[in-house]
Amino acid sequence: MGKQLIAGNWKLNLTVTEAAALAQALATESEELLHRCDLLVAPGFLALETVRSAVLGTAIQVAAQNAYHEPKGAFTGEVSFAQLRDLGVYWVILGHSERRSVFGEHDELLARKLKGALDCGMLPIFCVGESLEQRESGAASTVVKAQLQAALSDLPSDVAARLVIAYEPVWAIGTGLTASPAQAAEMHALIREELATLWGEASGKSVRLLYGGSVKAANAAELLGQPNVDGVLVGGASLQASEFLAIAAASCETR
Ligand code: 13P
Repeated sequence: MGKQLIAGNWKLNLTVTEAAALAQALATESEELLHRCDLLVAPGFLALETVRSAVLGTAIQVAAQNAYHEPKGAFTGEVSFAQLRDLGVYWVILGHSERRSVFGEHDELLARKLKGALDCGMLPIFCVGESLEQRESGAASTVVKAQLQAALSDLPSDVAARLVIAYEPVWAIGTGLTASPAQAAEMHALIREELATLWGEASGKSVRLLYGGSVKAANAAELLGQPNVDGVLVGGASLQASEFLAIAAASCETR
């Protein structure tokens, strides 16, 4: 049985001072919960070091929200995986729908980023998900499968144990609309099937699958109770310690 992963994506929120206070609150209030689930927070780049120090000595993990695949060079404004590792940050979110839609990150770039992260020994959380238009036109499965294939088809099966995939339907992000438990379960089953086809059943099973999109304390238990849901990726509701910890309290053991 594996622990579920409760991950908070703080996006472009919180000053370094505010991030430190939130991390401190999580560090002091999560001791009991960490026996039953894994907790991870993803602050902005500027707060990574401060947050990492605040949770040092606890089992809370820290992730970056993005990074670039080139190790160094003339890439103004970018941050490399090696720089993150040097800071003691091993987790990274890649392919978030806001990176895809607001910053134009396309499948090919994301495949390079994912490979770069894995080559550098990082632990990526790779996001996939369809837009409302795509869901309404019946293309959700095709879109998610294509995103997975573009990112994963050149990777060997031995990366599976280090990989987390987050299914975040774009229409559910920050909208208050959540995928129904049945919709989440259906897409997670499809993702699991894709992974098994690509890497074999055992490796496919070792990838943790998170659901993201308007997760809050009130709906977490139902989503976390679905088959193939190994955790959640939480945006807005991760900005308050009490709400985030209430989500973590809803976690259970899976597989
Ligand atoms: P919300 O929980 O605010 O909908 O955001 C989800 C998300 O994008 C997490 O990465």
